Amino acid sequence: MSLRDLTINPLRIGMRSAKHIEPCIMVIFGATGDLTSRKLLPALYNLALEHPLPPQFTVVGMARRPLSHDDFRKMAFDAITTNSRTQPISPSVWDTFSKGIFYNQGEFHDRAAFERLGQLLDQIDHDRGTLGNRIFYLATQPEFYSDIAAMLSESGAARPPETEAEGKGWSRIVIEKPFGHDLATAQQLNADLSRAFHEDQIYRMDHYLGKETVQNILVFRFGNGIFEPIWNRRYIEHVQITVAESLGLEGRAEYYESAGAIRDILQNHMMQLLTLTAMEPPVNFGAAAVRDEKLKVLGALPPVLREIANDSVRAQYSSGYVGGVKVPAYREEEGVKPDSLTESYVAVKLNIENWRWAGVPFYLRTGKRLAKRVTEIAIKFRRPPYLLFQGTGAGELATDVLSMRIQPDEGITLRFNAKVPGGEMHLRAVNMDFFYGNTFGGTPPEAYERLLLDAMAGDATLFTRIDETLAAWRLVDTIVQAWRDSRSPVALYAPGTWGPEAADQLIERDGHTWRRL
Ligand code: BG6
Repeated sequence: MSLRDLTINPLRIGMRSAKHIEPCIMVIFGATGDLTSRKLLPALYNLALEHPLPPQFTVVGMARRPLSHDDFRKMAFDAITTNSRTQPISPSVWDTFSKGIFYNQGEFHDRAAFERLGQLLDQIDHDRGTLGNRIFYLATQPEFYSDIAAMLSESGAARPPETEAEGKGWSRIVIEKPFGHDLATAQQLNADLSRAFHEDQIYRMDHYLGKETVQNILVFRFGNGIFEPIWNRRYIEHVQITVAESLGLEGRAEYYESAGAIRDILQNHMMQLLTLTAMEPPVNFGAAAVRDEKLKVLGALPPVLREIANDSVRAQYSSGYVGGVKVPAYREEEGVKPDSLTESYVAVKLNIENWRWAGVPFYLRTGKRLAKRVTEIAIKFRRPPYLLFQGTGAGELATDVLSMRIQPDEGITLRFNAKVPGGEMHLRAVNMDFFYGNTFGGTPPEAYERLLLDAMAGDATLFTRIDETLAAWRLVDTIVQAWRDSRSPVALYAPGTWGPEAADQLIERDGHTWRRL
């Protein structure tokens, strides 16, 4: 999809970015890693292709491997050719883009390497007119985050907020998840970062917030007049949020063993989906107002230790088949301890204790090696107050459901009952569908494109503020502690299914069932 295409479909009008991007340098730590080649470089290239990235924009890679600037350019070209969503690569865009690619070799605790980095950045400011504006992107293992922040500050490569006020350029730091391992480590990491950066300079990534469909939750709720009046306990019976993956560990056992589904997905991506679904309308769409409202939702989730063990299920996949292919059990995966208690699946029932949601359970489930990859938020409405069609042979009345499909088949479906044509009064559930693909055409930008652009523009709305992050950790810590205290067993589920029986029982206890997706 090129810029020209954007002008063809009238529904795509307005999709070009109107954000003002100042000339700047993005320094990527972990420049030879997987995230850089799969996501960051292709996203930057596509921003150069489709958005008005200023011609001065510059990328500096930093990693331990000894590479020349040209080696890194070649590596970037291969990464973009393999992973860009737009193909083929435009020679003229690549030509301009690649002139702004540089490399600085060094260990992440080596002061001299950061001093060299500072000199390179000053030189680029001078040669390419990047005005002292710098984004430091931490795409490394999390154990390096604190060291890098300290080195950036000590070497002077990153500058305090006052520098911006003096008109000498801004510095920002972007941090990938996981932000800590629990509340205590997240607080510690934040304390380390805060010695070098002010909260306004820190951009905590959750790539779910960069997804078009996730942002559309707010547009759907607050950009229309008809849904908000029924978006509450009076009309909604319960909410189900599913983040299902069919993939397994994909070689990430070392990280996943210490994270599990609760830290990998629930603490971050699912909390974003939950807060956007449940929050009150913000007074505006600025970062402070949106984050304030999200935080209030997290504050209304008082984790009750006694109940949460009962209201949550953890499980691991056993060996079996997914799509006809034999897969090993979680405990047999390479790098996983044979007696591991790490969960590859978690389901939990949460109550948001506020005026809007009192008595409306939110059921969350996420896992690996499930039947298919699907992320969905389903709003189940209450039945009509009087069952007019009972006894007419109409059959059981299905409840109305609004489902927001985050991925794949991005879209929104409203399921309601309709009369089957004919002389009898037969009812059947039917769907009203909106599909992004059909309506807007083309492939939507990758989440990383939107988020990188926002970080360059200084718009923190789609990044997580520290109080949100800590509130989510508080919840996760309570659940993990409840599992530990109650010695609740790790259930098993067959790969290619929707999870363990215990998760079905969790929701069936309340008279509901998980949606079949
Ligand atoms: C990442 C998790 O944050 O999100 C992965 O670490 C997971 O385990 C991935 O597979 C899912 O992202 P997406 O965009 O494919 O839903």
